[in-house]
Amino acid sequence: MSGDLKNSCTRPCSFTGTHRENTRDTQDHTPASPAAIIVLPESERKETLRTAFMKARILVTRPPSNAALVELRRRFSVEANEQGSAWSAEELRLRAADKDGLLISGADRIDGPLLDATPKLKVVCNVAVGYNNIDLAACSTRGVLATNTPGVLDETTADLTWALLLATARRLPEAERFMRAGQWQGWRGDTFMGRDVHHATLGIIGLGRIGLAVARRAHGFSMKVLYHNRHRLSRKVEQQWGVTYATLPRLLRTADFISLHLPYSPEVHHLIGEKQIAQMKPSAVLVNAARGGLVDDVALIAALRSRRIAAAGLDVFESEPNFNSGFLELDNVAILPHIGSATQVTRQAMFQLAVKNLTAALAGKRPPSLLNPAAWKNRRR
Ligand code: DGY
Repeated sequence: MSGDLKNSCTRPCSFTGTHRENTRDTQDHTPASPAAIIVLPESERKETLRTAFMKARILVTRPPSNAALVELRRRFSVEANEQGSAWSAEELRLRAADKDGLLISGADRIDGPLLDATPKLKVVCNVAVGYNNIDLAACSTRGVLATNTPGVLDETTADLTWALLLATARRLPEAERFMRAGQWQGWRGDTFMGRDVHHATLGIIGLGRIGLAVARRAHGFSMKVLYHNRHRLSRKVEQQWGVTYATLPRLLRTADFISLHLPYSPEVHHLIGEKQIAQMKPSAVLVNAARGGLVDDVALIAALRSRRIAAAGLDVFESEPNFNSGFLELDNVAILPHIGSATQVTRQAMFQLAVKNLTAALAGKRPPSLLNPAAWKNRRR
């Protein structure tokens, strides 16, 4: 790919099948005679460079829209999952086999076996900020760049977190189901009694960009905000954001609402399990719009069933999309199909950033959100 780009100004466009001055067969790779060499004007040179990208073959596992694909097809040779239903690992591997770049979702697993089956692969671009689906070490040893989409979905994910928090605190899904079932007989003094959010204590585990966006909203509800991070923030930053550091046990014991905003890694697998739930208040509400696997779903279901804690709002699950059906039997849980970043504007921004990463990498430039700088030196070209 980059070899084609380097040569593109001196060769007589043997790869530019669409160029109007190109009369040679696009498959003709015989060296051009000096007389045949055309020195292209700047504008056409740019066009030649642009069409050179078409040589790069890319796979898009979950395109956000047809419009996005139209745009991509201008620049690349694109294979896309236009049906929308997820490909199996094997199908993904087969389709990726001849590709230079992948635009994937956080639900697509990139591991050693896939990388071994994709010798031309140069870059893997997650259309997600979380990247626990990508084996970064496996990418780096093979010189494959990996990227994600940080920064563009923080506010949208914080909104969804709050939607879950309010919905569970005020029992909205239950009340909504009740209405739809035609069960409402009139106003009563004791129906769907919920919990106050205002002036309560919010405990945020993982105060990064999204956690901070959640904390900022909490101040509008006059809440006290505790946070727990591996590394405590400076006092100045804590003051600036109105947040108080707490050890994990203290946060679990004191918070009325506990919201998770840390990335998943094996080190934090089941960070919230039976033992941690046992430390929470019986009135506590747990919200998880970060990643499945941070919470032990079996332990959570048991705790919700026995009312050890009051409620949970979940956008993510272990082994998505096959979530534990025990949740379906419970009224005190709101469950959503991993839609934290699902607004038109944000999904578009995520896709655009992913395409920016892809385009840069395939042009031999360092992508803006490179996850494995270790791969840069020995990147595939
Ligand atoms: C992310 O960006 O990691 C989200 O979970 C995907 O929507």
